[in-house]
Amino acid sequence: MILVTGATGQLGGAVIKQLQTLISPQQIVAFVRDEHKATQLREQGVALRIGTYDDPASLDRAMEGIETVLLIAGTDEEKRVQQHQNVVDAANRAGVGRIAYTSRALKDRSTLVNRLMDAHFQTEDYIKASGLTYSLFRNILYMDAIPQFVGGNPVFERGIVLPAGQGRVALALRSELGEAMANALACPMAGSVTYQLTGSASYSFDDIATALTELSGRSVTYTPVALAAFTAQLRARGLPDVMARRITDFITDIANGQEDTVTTDLETLLGRQPTGLADGLKSVFGY
Ligand SMILES: NC(=O)c1ccc[n+]([C@@H]2O[C@H](COP(=O)([O-])OP(=O)(O)OC[C@H]3O[C@@H](n4cnc5c(N)ncnc54)[C@H](OP(=O)(O)O)[C@@H]3O)[C@@H](O)[C@H]2O)c1
Repeated sequence: MILVTGATGQLGGAVIKQLQTLISPQQIVAFVRDEHKATQLREQGVALRIGTYDDPASLDRAMEGIETVLLIAGTDEEKRVQQHQNVVDAANRAGVGRIAYTSRALKDRSTLVNRLMDAHFQTEDYIKASGLTYSLFRNILYMDAIPQFVGGNPVFERGIVLPAGQGRVALALRSELGEAMANALACPMAGSVTYQLTGSASYSFDDIATALTELSGRSVTYTPVALAAFTAQLRARGLPDVMARRITDFITDIANGQEDTVTTDLETLLGRQPTGLADGLKSVFGY
């Protein structure tokens, strides 16, 4: 049996959707914190185990009879290292055969500006030290996150203005990352593995602007700006310093090439080329 945490979230949902095509519903267990969000899963015959990453007793109950656990990274940036450790500890107590984790595909941990990303590497370290067999899925930035980066649909009037320089990102669709992870998890264990799941090309914001121009028929430009000017704009819009810093740190890492490595791991697990930028943005922007 495979336990998928974060099952009512978007990535967990994509994993379960694909697992349902590969194994029987009786082999899929969803760990959810809000039963009401999981009505559809229950109707599809997926067993629910209720709990949170903060509650070790609920995790112990959830792990009973489980061979593989997929830990979807939590969303609470302050607490998630401890939360992830709770899941790993429960998996160890239950003697599961494999733990999988959704980490991030970033080039160099030691030079990351966005220190919040270090939680993923701390979790990887903890998993490796646990002695459990593991599958680490280092996921690239979701293509689905591009509207947030470029300011949503107003991008078609205003263009893209970011301090990302000519930094490139090997974007991939979240649904395809979930599909690929499910394909890996449904296979028999082959020892511990680390996957770098990326698109089959990397893209600059110039490329994104060109793709948005082609899909909308309107001229979308990319204007790289200096970090200080961009930060001042965010503050002028009333964004609290903490939020402004989160955004600028993220974009600085992109400018520094932290997300530009391309691998074939996603393509191999999907058994086809991942969706490219033009088609991906079409679905993300609902064109
Ligand atoms: N690669 C990227 O570009 C990228 C972008 C954004 C996020 N991420 C990371 O990838 C993860 C999955 O992405 P997503 O799009 O699927 O996010 P999402 O839709 O927000 O899903 C997160 C899931 O985690 C569950 N969760 C959070 N805290 C929990 C806790 N304490 N106990 C139990 N469950 C908990 C949530 O439960 P509820 O359904 O009850 O809320 C939700 O199901 C995120 O959490 C984030 O760490 C990666």
